[in-house]
Amino acid sequence: MPDLVRFGVSLDKELLDRFDELIQAEGYTNMSEAIRDLIRERLAKKEWECGNVVVGAIAIVYDHHYSNLLERLTEVQHKYKKVISSFHVHLTRDTCLEIIAVRDKSKNITQFAHQIKAIKGIKQCDVAMCSIGSSK
Ligand code: NI
Repeated sequence: MPDLVRFGVSLDKELLDRFDELIQAEGYTNMSEAIRDLIRERLAKKEWECGNVVVGAIAIVYDHHYSNLLERLTEVQHKYKKVISSFHVHLTRDTCLEIIAVRDKSKNITQFAHQIKAIKGIKQCDVAMCSIGSSK
């Protein structure tokens, strides 16, 4: 268990009210947890911007009937070699969701995601950026 530190923050009331409304809508039950998550998100973003080794989850949606899409998707992943794991969900008769977990330097992950996005037939490709070092 890490050492806990308490600190005070000065905010204008309107900003605090808006933040409080936002975190309640998101399901937070206390302000500290919401602030911890904000700090972690900023730190993870900084790690990505600095080109550190990070982890990411690439979510893609596609129509599996699209010509050569599956072959191309497999080929791109084999070339990349930094895939930790992936899983596939058959969303509808035609549409698939695939989540690809990767661990690499952020710029390489971004480049890999761009390669996937460029494959014809990929309908959506989003990257969730995470930090290896963040603690809960
Ligand atoms: Ni499928």
